Amino acid sequence: MENKKRAFSGIQPTGCLTLGNYVGAVKSWLNMQEEFDCIFSVVDMHSITVRQDPAALRKRCMEFFCEYIACGLDPEKSILFFQSHVSQHAELAWILNCFTYMGELSRMTQFKEKSARHADNINAGLFTYPVLMAADILLYGAEIVPVGHDQKQHVELTRDIAERFNGVYGDVFVVPEPYIPPVGARIKSLQEPEKKMSKSDPNPNGYIWVLDEPDVIMKKIKRAVTDSDGEIAYREGKDGINNLLAIYGAMTDKTPQDAAKEFEGLGYGVFKERVGEAVAETLAPIRDKYNDLLKNKDYVESVYKNGAQKASAIAYKTLRKVHKKLGFIQR
Ligand code: TYM
Repeated sequence: MENKKRAFSGIQPTGCLTLGNYVGAVKSWLNMQEEFDCIFSVVDMHSITVRQDPAALRKRCMEFFCEYIACGLDPEKSILFFQSHVSQHAELAWILNCFTYMGELSRMTQFKEKSARHADNINAGLFTYPVLMAADILLYGAEIVPVGHDQKQHVELTRDIAERFNGVYGDVFVVPEPYIPPVGARIKSLQEPEKKMSKSDPNPNGYIWVLDEPDVIMKKIKRAVTDSDGEIAYREGKDGINNLLAIYGAMTDKTPQDAAKEFEGLGYGVFKERVGEAVAETLAPIRDKYNDLLKNKDYVESVYKNGAQKASAIAYKTLRKVHKKLGFIQR
């Protein structure tokens, strides 16, 4: 029917959707909607590697889904769905588990970090999480996976798993490429600019939520940790300023270096105000659209049900092919 290349990506419904997620992932997704055949999922199954309160998770899943649409993901152009609504993700993940080595999984940075943070709950799901992610991508034959820098390693593992499987059974899976945006692939915490901006940060001053009100955005940017040399320049050792320049650059489609030139000679106070304004301006229409969607629950439900149906039809075909190759009796 179409010859467009396919893109797949997803976000875990943990914490809240931050400016880091928006700049590192969602912004690329928006740019890809015309050119690619896009599939985007709220990957709820990934979020249970950490204990979740059921009521809070239910609310958050819906929040993330509405935020996808509010950010500009268009259900007429892209397939939008909840991962748990398409059972083939779990089915393929099991199969791929049998083609992934313990050694590979133990080298994953996110596993090392998360198991240190949740030392009392290092469950098998946390360990095999990247295999579920590989299943997400490979089920849809995605050629491109738009993600922030921290997910590059997982996409590389996906490539290794796909090539390994193809090596045994022939060309079953498309081997995907990560797409990492040139600006904003590593947005840092506003409070600890040497760490990434994380949606699970217990300190809300460290991140900007895409639905934050303009005055909250301004306050958080003004409180952002910088340095004491007073120079607006993009260079090593200036983590806080570099981060604000990357944020401003991502908001205005400039490189951080060009952004730095724009602010040359100005003080941090004025600079932060301009960054805050640029962020607030970008996020305002998202908040408005989100509030509209809250009044239109039937529409949202029709989008995710329809999305799951379409996703399932594609996933079913891939899984059927995989079963056949493995030697399972066809249903
Ligand atoms: P997650 O939910 O942690 O993050 C979602 C997306 O946001 C990007 N991101 C960032 N980009 C720039 N700066 C930051 N500070 C920042 N923080 C997060 C992430 O790189 C990611 O693109 N395992 C994935 C979710 C996933 C997935 C998939 C992604 C599951 N299956 C299949 C792609 C394809 C994750 O935990 O992302």
